[in-house]
Amino acid sequence: MERERLLRRLAEAEAGSLAGGGAEKVAKQHERGRLTARERLDALLDPGTFLEIDAFVTHQCSDFGLDNQRFLGDGVVVGQGRIDGRLVFVFAQDFTVLGGSLSATHAGKICKVMDHALRAGAPVIGLNDSGGARIQEGVAALGGYADIFLRNTLASGVIPQISAILGPCAGGAVYSPAITDFIAMVDRKSFMFVTGPDVIRTVTHEVVTQEHLGGAETHTGVSGVAHFKVADEPAVMSLIRELIGYLPQNNLEEAPRRGTEDPPDRLCPELTELVPTNPNKPYDILDVIRCLADEGRFLEVQPEFAANIVIGFARIDGRSIGVVANQPAVLAGCLDVGSSSKAARFVRFCDAFNIPLLTLVDVPGFLPGTEQEHGGIIKHGAKLLYAFAEATVPKVTVITRKAYGGAYDVMNSKHLRSDYNFAWPTAEIAVMGPAGAVNVIFRREIESAADPTARRAELVEEYREKFANPYRAAALGFIDAVIRPEETRARLAQVFASLETKREKNPPKKHGNIPL
Ligand code: HXC
Repeated sequence: MERERLLRRLAEAEAGSLAGGGAEKVAKQHERGRLTARERLDALLDPGTFLEIDAFVTHQCSDFGLDNQRFLGDGVVVGQGRIDGRLVFVFAQDFTVLGGSLSATHAGKICKVMDHALRAGAPVIGLNDSGGARIQEGVAALGGYADIFLRNTLASGVIPQISAILGPCAGGAVYSPAITDFIAMVDRKSFMFVTGPDVIRTVTHEVVTQEHLGGAETHTGVSGVAHFKVADEPAVMSLIRELIGYLPQNNLEEAPRRGTEDPPDRLCPELTELVPTNPNKPYDILDVIRCLADEGRFLEVQPEFAANIVIGFARIDGRSIGVVANQPAVLAGCLDVGSSSKAARFVRFCDAFNIPLLTLVDVPGFLPGTEQEHGGIIKHGAKLLYAFAEATVPKVTVITRKAYGGAYDVMNSKHLRSDYNFAWPTAEIAVMGPAGAVNVIFRREIESAADPTARRAELVEEYREKFANPYRAAALGFIDAVIRPEETRARLAQVFASLETKREKNPPKKHGNIPL
């Protein structure tokens, strides 16, 4: 009898915790087109693998009537589970409990699960849906946030950290996701901002909607804060599952190798004609990436932001590879402030987590103009250069067409310790494009010619013939091999296999000082 009573007590407590903020609040959450914390975890994790901890934690505050509002779990569900059989740690904020607001104990639960993740060397995934610091708790809640930020920082580069923004994420609360490696936002249902529309209206009289200020479209397309804009919550969960599949558990492990039916030596004849003979004509670098990748699969990261550079994950012969590629179809593939920062952070992520890098180059140079210079292109371009230079993972480059000026150096050139640098016969590697070069070095000759236009055209052709090809660079050993486009996948598979045992170290230091 006594045993039954004890078990009944446990069942009651469990039911209380499972109820969250109650049926009414759950119905309201559903009406808004949002799932509850537990429904989200069900969609994210392998069935039956979720082990919850701290389900009975309650807040310790009795101010402003909070003593009458205690909910088991205190607005966040935390624990561990599996994704494709691999261990992950998770927290999911429960908006049905006091708006998912963060109390000191709520923060303590998140910190506990992050500590577990760090000790176990497994990724941590945060599902955010919160009204921010629990206002009734004041500075105790602020302290809780800072405790989380500290753990985010210490875990950075040790375990992958992924954030989903599934509802509000406002005020200083944004800084935890911002430190994590990837942020996914649900379109039209989530927002992130440091100061909301009301405060903005009071302080600056600017009138702006939540969506325009900090919705998924804004953060994936304009600010670059978020990496993925996803249509709905189930899609967010499958995206995170897919993303995790490309990553190792921690910085001491390799990403899992997947079996593939796609032969590593598969020829890609469709690449032979892909690069137009007219150097000013664009083509889509995504066609090249998909052709090279196992089964044509590529998980693009930040597709809407700075689309003149493409970053993302693919597999070649089952190995996870981070791809960085200039996109000639957007701004002719120029490097600018946005694309440099975007690629630099990705390169550093891959390097931190032992994911080899493939760089595809077709870059006419840096985007000229006062906007770029005043926006700090020097600093941001240096960031990308620094990121490639310091990376010690296997690094392979393929120059498909243009590699001009400083951008040649920056895009994982041989000089930055790249392991293998290939070029297609269509590659043009020089200090600048033929037209610009001829205008500088033959200005007087062109001006004094009987027919300056014809003479310029002649000299441009001569320069192109002499310098705008891969053979000068190959003669200097800056290009290891000029390869036929169709054999690119086979060569990449071969060199990435040979680089599996690569060991390279940087000089000992506390940390470098990357131009941020
Ligand atoms: C306590 C909160 C809360 C909060 C919401 N609630 N936010 N309780 N602290 N921060 C409660 C509401 O009182 C309400 O309780 C329930 O959660 C649902 O909220 P609603 O307002 O009904 O929902 P909705 O209309 O969808 O609006 C959601 C919202 C809004 C936009 C998030 O609640 C809001 O603006 N909240 C305040 C946001 C804010 O200023 N937070 C502090 C930011 S400063 P009942 O009982 O009525 O259902 C911050 C500093 C962090 O976070 C600094 C870290 C360094």
